[in-house]
Amino acid sequence: MARVSPVRRGTRSDAPAIAQRVAVQLARDASNEALISTHFSRPEFETALANAVTALWVDESHGRIRGHLYGANFDDPLRGRQTWTGPDGYSFEIPDVLDNLCEHAYREWRDQGSSAHLVWAAAVGATMTWLERGYAIIGVRGARALEGAPSLAWPEGHRVRRGTRADLATALAFDRQIDLAQGVDHDALTLEQREASEADVIELLEDPECHYYLLEVDGRPVAQCVTFPLPALRGNFDATVYLSSLAVHPAWQRRGLASALVKEVLRAAVAEGHRYGEARWHADNVAATAFWSSVGFRPTYLQLRRSLRD
Ligand SMILES: CC(C)(COP(=O)(O)OP(=O)(O)OC[C@H]1O[C@@H](n2cnc3c(N)ncnc32)[C@H](O)[C@@H]1OP(=O)(O)O)[C@@H](O)C(=O)NCCC(=O)NCCS
Repeated sequence: MARVSPVRRGTRSDAPAIAQRVAVQLARDASNEALISTHFSRPEFETALANAVTALWVDESHGRIRGHLYGANFDDPLRGRQTWTGPDGYSFEIPDVLDNLCEHAYREWRDQGSSAHLVWAAAVGATMTWLERGYAIIGVRGARALEGAPSLAWPEGHRVRRGTRADLATALAFDRQIDLAQGVDHDALTLEQREASEADVIELLEDPECHYYLLEVDGRPVAQCVTFPLPALRGNFDATVYLSSLAVHPAWQRRGLASALVKEVLRAAVAEGHRYGEARWHADNVAATAFWSSVGFRPTYLQLRRSLRD
């Protein structure tokens, strides 16, 4: 007799049971890592999930939900269509349940033209199951608690200032350097891709919530860092400042400048009321990986990727 699959598409009425599973999972992740917050707005989650059930798979046996998998398709300008799962986008206790869910979901995601599945999993205790299923770690979310610190005494000629739209050329040059460090060569991009990336930088410079910090030595820009308040994200504490676009001109690296700039930027963030800092980096960016841990950031979530082509 053919086996009846326990996997079915999710419905709106599954949302409360899945919210309960996600809350339990979040509490477990937080008990493994103090930098993960258990804050979870159940009504908000249930409403969002109930409105997105077409992308939800559920494993149910004898009337009991044993796991779920949610995947949203997005079109990446460089890699084409991929499917994304957040830390609350899956749950299972028995690995077989995850296999059942993946089998169904992969088939559908492939039919929808997706070439890969990306999933965020807690760095402590949650990544092994994905690694065992052919996923590779590609990205890291790292965080640290912040405390007040005195202003830095910079060497003569060094000055940190807030950049503006007038610093666009500098911001674009650093942007290219960061892309290169993360495996993207600007010269290989299409005009459309380059325009999109330039538009992103302009948006950042013009966003009143973003602070663009430039470190100059004798009036010449040698490093930059951007900060903005991180919007509510699963696992984050309130009052988290996000650090992005950190770069030091190649001729000025390994002299402690990024460390000093990050210290300065975090000091300003504390003065604005932030209590935590977060950064993200590519797992294969060796300098960034060593750097963020050297300034006290610890991985909270890892992003894993698996091709759907095989
Ligand atoms: C990552 C980056 C900003 C570090 O800048 P920096 O000013 O050289 O960093 P610091 O001198 O403050 O380094 C502090 C520590 O980080 C680690 N580190 C920094 N660069 C490193 C590298 N290339 N390899 C290994 N460890 C490195 C070391 O532990 C270092 O301490 P040490 O020099 O005493 O060994 C710089 O390499 C850079 O601009 N890279 C290209 C852009 C990029 O990848 N940005 C990060 C995006 S997330």
